[in-house]
Amino acid sequence: MATVFLGTVVHTKSFSEFESFERGFLAVDDAGKIIGVGQDYHAWASSNPAHAKGLTEVQLSDYQFLMPGFVDCHIHAPQFAQVGLGLDMPLLDWLNTYTFPLEAKFSNQQFAQQVYQSVVEATLRCGTTLASYFATNHLESTLTLAREAVRQGQRALVGKVCSNCNSPDFYVETAEESVSATLAFVEGVRELGSPLVMPTITPRFALSCSKELLKSLGDIAKRFDLHIQSHISENLAEIEMVKGIFKTSYAGAYDEAGLLTNKTVMAHGVHLEDDEVALLKVRGCSVAHCPTSNTMLSSGLCDVQRLVSAGVSVGLGTDVSGGNSVSIQDVLLRALDVSKHLDFFKKQNIRGTGVAKTQDFNYDQLKYKQALYLATLGGAKALSLDQVTGNFALGKDFDALLVDVSVVEKPLRRLSVDELVEKFIYTGSDRNIVEVFVAGKRIKQGYQ
Ligand code: GUN
Ligand code: FE
Repeated sequence: MATVFLGTVVHTKSFSEFESFERGFLAVDDAGKIIGVGQDYHAWASSNPAHAKGLTEVQLSDYQFLMPGFVDCHIHAPQFAQVGLGLDMPLLDWLNTYTFPLEAKFSNQQFAQQVYQSVVEATLRCGTTLASYFATNHLESTLTLAREAVRQGQRALVGKVCSNCNSPDFYVETAEESVSATLAFVEGVRELGSPLVMPTITPRFALSCSKELLKSLGDIAKRFDLHIQSHISENLAEIEMVKGIFKTSYAGAYDEAGLLTNKTVMAHGVHLEDDEVALLKVRGCSVAHCPTSNTMLSSGLCDVQRLVSAGVSVGLGTDVSGGNSVSIQDVLLRALDVSKHLDFFKKQNIRGTGVAKTQDFNYDQLKYKQALYLATLGGAKALSLDQVTGNFALGKDFDALLVDVSVVEKPLRRLSVDELVEKFIYTGSDRNIVEVFVAGKRIKQGYQ
């Protein structure tokens, strides 16, 4: 239904540009596209009478605002079954002890259906309008995840995970199986016929794929012009193993296989060397910053300011279940925490952290409006979907959250627009997200 929202509207236009319209408006047409946004609705309506004619008016309260939906650039859908559990080990032990045994269970369709239904519900409830999902090695259950995203109306990239080595016997495939299941998966998602859900090529990480498999996956991505996602430079022990096997840097291992493209998003990048950052920039690759996960698995402190300054696109990822929360809002807050901790380390020159080799008094802490960019438009850009979503530019799909900061506790005084946003970021939760829209369709209404 064509609608105009009358009230406060906020979004970002770049890492450093936040825009707000206090008691402004946003108009959406029947197709779910944004047709008007700004300060003065009556001025817009009189110069666009044909558009304004059929709009249903929705009045927001003084404690409410509209913002773009959250983008989760990196989430493992099957691991939702263990979210918040087993966070007492570093990456490689954690994978072997908890995660591979759990993911192996997704050969069971019923189990997969149950978990995938729940994870799509939970992420939508937390305001994730676009997610880039890793599933498991299994073709059938990965298609189940894609169908669930279509059924519930979430925008999603979905990947069948590929791994043919350095994996346990009970959870491994051959390179041939991995390639043929990937091709079948790409075809299967296309047959679903949804503009919202797309396949993405998903080598688990360099350690779990042979050079030959990585190369085949790079070729498939090129042939069908597909998105690519994987992990990079997350954990120091893992990096040493990758260098030993591939005899090059972590980024080099992917680059040799043609996997670094302008549709590639790599999770973590905590310990990237300067020449790897430069390579990602040249190839147009993005990084999914996953601060909750990097903290939970003791991976390290990722310096996102360094990546952004180098011109690499950055979005945020929950990395469930390395990350303990399905909410991008939680991740946004942890990104701010990590930046404050880094600031302290850099100014104090604490050595041995892997991030503060020299004293750096010029380090700028991440600001909440910049973090909001990472959680919305930055994420859409990192997933190469910023022409369609991520902010309220005219012509984009209306992927949005209606936030109400008075749901749990009414603020004691009237708040400015900036304060409304700040309050939501620092004290809010999914309960404050009272409505969720994807491509103009209302997916959530009221706290469920
Ligand atoms: N590296 C390879 N697989 C995984 C995974 O499932 N989670 C995280 N955080 N890192 C990985
Ligand atoms: Fe991950």
